[in-house]
Formats: sequence, structure tokens, C-alpha cells
Amino acid sequence: MTKQRKGIILAGGTGTRLFPVTLGISKQLVPVYDKPMIYYPLSVLMLSGIKEILIITTPVDHAQFVRVLGDGSQWGISLQFAIQETPDGLPQAYLIGEQFLDGAPSALILGDNIFYGNGLVELLKNADGHALGVTVFGYRVRDPERYGVFGFDDHGKVVSIVEKPSKPGSNYAITGLYFADETAPDRSRDIRPSARGELEITSLLNSYLEEGVLNVELMGRGFSWLDTGTHASLLNASNFVKTMTERQGLQVGSPDEVAFHQNWISREDLLRRAKKFDKNYYGKYLKQIAQG
Ligand code: DAU
Repeated sequence: MTKQRKGIILAGGTGTRLFPVTLGISKQLVPVYDKPMIYYPLSVLMLSGIKEILIITTPVDHAQFVRVLGDGSQWGISLQFAIQETPDGLPQAYLIGEQFLDGAPSALILGDNIFYGNGLVELLKNADGHALGVTVFGYRVRDPERYGVFGFDDHGKVVSIVEKPSKPGSNYAITGLYFADETAPDRSRDIRPSARGELEITSLLNSYLEEGVLNVELMGRGFSWLDTGTHASLLNASNFVKTMTERQGLQVGSPDEVAFHQNWISREDLLRRAKKFDKNYYGKYLKQIAQG
């Protein structure tokens, strides 16, 4: 029988593109409007129904992540932490997380990826339902050469996956969310570093593609996949969250709200959390949903 899927958030890296902001703080702890960045990918894993999550950080940032997130009990989930000594590539997450996964399938999300949109839960549930192979998500972007990119044949079938191609095969970037079966750690062990000296996620995805077990879901217009790679795009992401929060009166990326809706925490638990933040709108919002 297949084990319950576990989650991994990869939140290491040097954050050099956001220097000097990230000289003293991990990129994934920088605020995106009213919450630390990592709240957003964490909420995505929780929306997928995942309750056991490993967070991988740099050695220096480890303590700060533990301080911000704790053991997850405030959300009725279990958070564990591991260290990536040097940023040698995304598939390393599967090697560092191998013991934690213990033969379970996984959902790996990059700590700087923010998703929002109508139908996200259904998309995640579908991906979770695929026991074999890997499921990845394509998102149309103007500048695909900055990402991993899909190439399609005339029938819309994926035929290539290339990291930061100078001549992209399509406008569909591969987002930083990967629902993989239990073979991901073994496959990652076989990957050799690329010319830039990193283990590439595209190498891992290609090993699935070659066996015909790579499943692609395209995210349509109703979805937002926000970029946080530059100072300007980070500000845009904050503004997006602010706009949605103010306009709709709904939260984007709140683990507290997701935990409550999943019935992982009680009304009293949520009220306790709300009290912690009662000086701001986030706290008021939590109180409001707790009171129904
Ligand atoms: O965001 C989606 C893109 O993420 C994909 O389209 C690409 O295929 C994938 O390679 C990756 O591209 P990036 O250029 O964004 O990769 P970057 O090296 O910036 O790393 C992404 C995040 O993962 C970043 O927040 C830092 C973290 N990271 C990165 C590496 C290489 C780690 O925690 N450890 C690492 O070893």
C-alpha cells in the first residue's frame, strides 16, 4: 500500500538577487505583504492535505525558521527541519529528505513560490491522486528563458524539459511544485551535476519523462504564480496580496485559516492564534472566521 504523501519545502539558497535585503535574513522569511514568504508555500502543501512537512534551510537560517514556524502544532501539523550545507541544487532536497520521507511519495515546493487561484485545491488533489511518476505544473510566462521550460509536440504532449533555455520550446514555465512518487530520492542519487555545478531539477524530471510517467497540469488564466526573484517583483507580489486581502476581505496564504478549514485545529485554537496577532488585520481576520 502506498504511504501517505509527505511535504518538503526547500528554503535554502543564498538569496543573492535580493541583496542587501537578504544579507541578514533568509529570502523565504522576507515579508510578502503581511506574512513571511514561507507561509504561502506552506499553505499550498496544507491545502493538499499534507500534515507532515520537512523544511530545508541553510545552516545560518535554521534557528530563525524554527522560531517563526515552531513544530507546527499550532496548525495541527508536524514540522521538521533539516539543513542543506551548500546550495548544490533542487534535487538535493530528496537526498536530504530521504530518511524523513521513508519511502513515502512527496510534494516538494520551493520556499519562494507563491500560488493563488480559483480551483487550486482541485488541481492539488488531482496531483495527489497520481500514485505513479511525477506531476508538475506549467504556467504561461512572458520570459520563459528564466525558468525550466516545457517543449510540446503538435498534439500538446510534453517532449522536452530544459532549464533556462536560450531558445525556449514554449512559453510554459515549470513551476516550483513537484508531486513525485517514492522513487524521487533514488533517481536524484543518479543525477550528475550540470555545467554550472548544480544538480538540476530538470534532470530529475527528464528521468520521469523518458519513462513516460511525467504528468503535466497547465495552470490557466484563473491562476496566479507570483515571482519573488527581484526587488520589484517582490513588491508586486506584496501588492497583489494586499489588493486581494483588501478587496475580497479574504486571506491569501494563511496556514491558520487552512488548518481551521481542514479541521486540524479547533475554534479555541484559532482564537488563541488570533489573540497573538490582535494588533493587526491578520489577527482580526482569524477572530472573524473563528466566530463564523
Ligand atoms: O521557481 C521555479 C523555477 O525554480 C523552475 O522553473 C526551475 O526549473 C528551477 O530550477 C528553479 O529555478 P530558479 O532559477 O528559481 O532556481 P534557484 O537556484 O533560484 O532556486 C530556487 C529556490 O530554491 C530559491 O529560493 C533558493 C532555493 N534553493 C536553490 C538551490 C539551488 C535551495 O534552497 N537550495 C539549492 O540548492
